[in-house]
Amino acid sequence: KIIIIDFGGQYNQLIARRVREAGVYSEVVSYKTPLSAIVEKKPSGIIFTGGPNSVYLEGAPSVDPGIFELGIPVLGICYGMQLMAHLLGGKVRKADQREYGKISLNLAEESALFSGVESGSTCWMSHFDYVEKEPEGFKISATTDNCPVGAMESVEKKLYAVQFHAEVEHTPFGRTLIQNFLYEICGCEGRWNMGSFAEEKIEQIKKIAGNDKVLCGLSGGVDSSVAALMVHKAIGNNLTCIFVDHGLLRKDEGDEVEKVFMEDFHMNFIRVNAQERFLGKLYGVSDPETKRKIIGEEFIRVFEEEANKLEGIKWLVQGTVYPDVIESGTDTAQVIKSHHNVGGLPDDMQFELIEPLRDLFKDEVRKVGLEIGLDENIVWRQPFPGPGLAIRVMGEITDEKLKIVRDSDAILREEIKKAGLHRDVWQYFTVLPNVKSVGVMGDERTYSHLVGIRAVTSIDGMTSDWARLPYEVLDKISSRIVNEVDHVNRIVYDVTSKPPSTIEWE
Ligand code: XMP
Repeated sequence: KIIIIDFGGQYNQLIARRVREAGVYSEVVSYKTPLSAIVEKKPSGIIFTGGPNSVYLEGAPSVDPGIFELGIPVLGICYGMQLMAHLLGGKVRKADQREYGKISLNLAEESALFSGVESGSTCWMSHFDYVEKEPEGFKISATTDNCPVGAMESVEKKLYAVQFHAEVEHTPFGRTLIQNFLYEICGCEGRWNMGSFAEEKIEQIKKIAGNDKVLCGLSGGVDSSVAALMVHKAIGNNLTCIFVDHGLLRKDEGDEVEKVFMEDFHMNFIRVNAQERFLGKLYGVSDPETKRKIIGEEFIRVFEEEANKLEGIKWLVQGTVYPDVIESGTDTAQVIKSHHNVGGLPDDMQFELIEPLRDLFKDEVRKVGLEIGLDENIVWRQPFPGPGLAIRVMGEITDEKLKIVRDSDAILREEIKKAGLHRDVWQYFTVLPNVKSVGVMGDERTYSHLVGIRAVTSIDGMTSDWARLPYEVLDKISSRIVNEVDHVNRIVYDVTSKPPSTIEWE
């Protein structure tokens, strides 16, 4: 097991991911975690993350220097390296200019950490502060043109540090470096996988929930389905799943979800038909954040009501995944959208949360799903946002507009599947921007809605690119939507990546 000590950098979870990809279990803990608690976890190695602070400022995040005396290998990255240098008597300074971007790294000496890496390889730098002088007993293992200590190590004390970000794709040898640390320096074997993650989590849930009654909001999406099945495996029928049909689902979705969980998995499954309740609250509201908040809150209220009927529910399962956590704002990240499964929870919520997938990226969730025996059709279902079609109709929602997105989306999905593209394209849907334009049908002038098609490729939803759908497929989708869906006379294709756009339009 590797413990990753979080100093607030933006790539922290990526470090965890790289370690897990290398087949080693990793946990991210706050820098405030006492040393004794870290020792108790019996890590084979410790990684210090980057962070936005300067080590020499008062109140900067730090650790108990005893951590360097444990004999456990430590790898410091960026701020982590500066902190290591600072605490061990080296010198950290602020540079006149930030070193940023792809930088060539000169390897100074033979180092186990850089085994298999060639001198002159590119690494990704992003820092103002730098280590001017390494602590006593350390040697410099790499430099860059602007950075006297690009990497340093004390083999004897098993302390290693790099100024660049080894965890990002822009450092092409980053995976090699992390694997060197794990296998060569920490002696890890790399046998951990999503199957063992699932087993460990299920055991944990058993312990946490005991004989308590647990409620789960099942949307039928990958995340909540995997979360629900994990909890079901842990505590069986002490779990009740509630499926809220908020009237903002895709075509026929409600019936499909009901079938899978009731008939195939025999779970305690309650379907709440709350369409009118949700829509009633949404009519007349056009601000995207307000729409999200309303839906999020209403969702929880419905839950509370159902929970009260069930009596004695203590826990709520949610399929929150890591991108939701970051984008809803952590200590360091800004709020971009309030995803309803994280952000919109009212303060008076009475449940405690079980979020088994909180540390996972989407592709990892899918792997876990397959490991625990979930059907491929569900595992490969495209992500669907909690607020549903409400955020695919821009601005105010009406029944007519909802029908347009729902029907056009069904056509789009059918055609993508027919073309055999449903596995390659990560997410695909239609949006109604609430714009009308002039067209001609037969001999008549029309003034009708514009429908946008959004189709993106992505690995984890954090970044994405627009899918290069074949023209013939786009053509087929376009003519079918215009012909089969009333009040639509124009189709456009969204060709922006994320960033700068987001995947959804609201
Ligand atoms: P954005 O639009 O933020 O979306 O680029 C990233 C991914 O998250 C999905 N999404 C949501 N999922 N609740 C969810 O569970 C939400 O409120 C929500 N908003 C966006 C979106 O569909 C994409 O897959």
